[in-house]
Amino acid sequence: QVTEGLAAAESMEALEALRVSVLGKKGSLTQIMRSMGKLAPEERPVMGQLANTVRGNVDAAIKARREELGRELMERKMAADACDVTLPGRRLSHGTQHLISQIREEVEDIFCGLGYTVEDGPYVESTWYNFTALNAPEDHPSRSAKDTFYVVDNAPGTMLHAEETNVQGESDVLLRTQTSGVQVHVMERQKPPIYMICPGTVFRPDTADANHLPQFTQIEGLVVDEGITFGDFKGTMDYFLRQVFGEDRATRYRPHFFPFTEPSCEVDVSCGVCGGKGCRFCKGTGWLEILGAGMVDPNVLEYCGIDSEKYTGFAFGMGVERIACLRYDLPDLRMLMTGDMRFLSQF
Ligand code: PHE
Repeated sequence: QVTEGLAAAESMEALEALRVSVLGKKGSLTQIMRSMGKLAPEERPVMGQLANTVRGNVDAAIKARREELGRELMERKMAADACDVTLPGRRLSHGTQHLISQIREEVEDIFCGLGYTVEDGPYVESTWYNFTALNAPEDHPSRSAKDTFYVVDNAPGTMLHAEETNVQGESDVLLRTQTSGVQVHVMERQKPPIYMICPGTVFRPDTADANHLPQFTQIEGLVVDEGITFGDFKGTMDYFLRQVFGEDRATRYRPHFFPFTEPSCEVDVSCGVCGGKGCRFCKGTGWLEILGAGMVDPNVLEYCGIDSEKYTGFAFGMGVERIACLRYDLPDLRMLMTGDMRFLSQF
């Protein structure tokens, strides 16, 4: 009866109940041992010994069963908590830099290697920094609200710069349309020699399409020192463009106009797809337009308090999104703004 009970006791509680029912104060074996007094004297030693043996056996059996149950319980618990150490782990996806930031840093590295500093400036500028000090005439079309986001409706006469008279009737607080204003800030506070680039976001009221963005990234550069010539400018651009696009690329300088440089030019790099022979990518010309540049107009130096008899310089500016498009043949500028990981994680 005890043996059957032992096998049936599936838990520590059931086992304890069984022990109490046999060996407890009112347990069956205890009852038998108590009733021993009623036996004949000669039977007592025999029965006593027998009872003790049975008690010892039951006790041992219960202990054994308790250990067995304990082991089973532990095994069940371990099986429930099991962790398969051979399962491959869940890979943590760590972010990468946005393509625009990558190119921006690459350009920064190239110019830092030439001893240039990297400068920063405000997104919200006054017309002085964005236009006037850069020699843009008052009636220059880029000053109109069609080409510039004005952010304050200050009436004429309450301009930040009292001397400003924007004939186009706009205020003089705007979102910068170019990073050129940073050059003015730097020239105001630092005497030449100046060797700097200023990367940053610029804003123009264009509707976003495949070739335009209302917000994009420009990198401009400025050098002002004694005896700087167009040859210095050309050597610097050739070096820079070959660092970015490859040693085998040719460059071309086309005359152009910018208010703040004279002479001005646009710089092209030979098409890497057709090697300059002309293809769909370069629209048959063999050349890709990369940046605008020129020798700093003496007027700009004078506006910024720099002696234009003593110093000369050059400036250049490029769009980072455009470089990204040319390098990776992106069909649509807007891909750079979507945050779509399928696109971004390719770089
Ligand atoms: N700021 C000019 C632009 O946005 C680019 C430029 C910079 C041209 C410096 C000449 C010199 O188009």
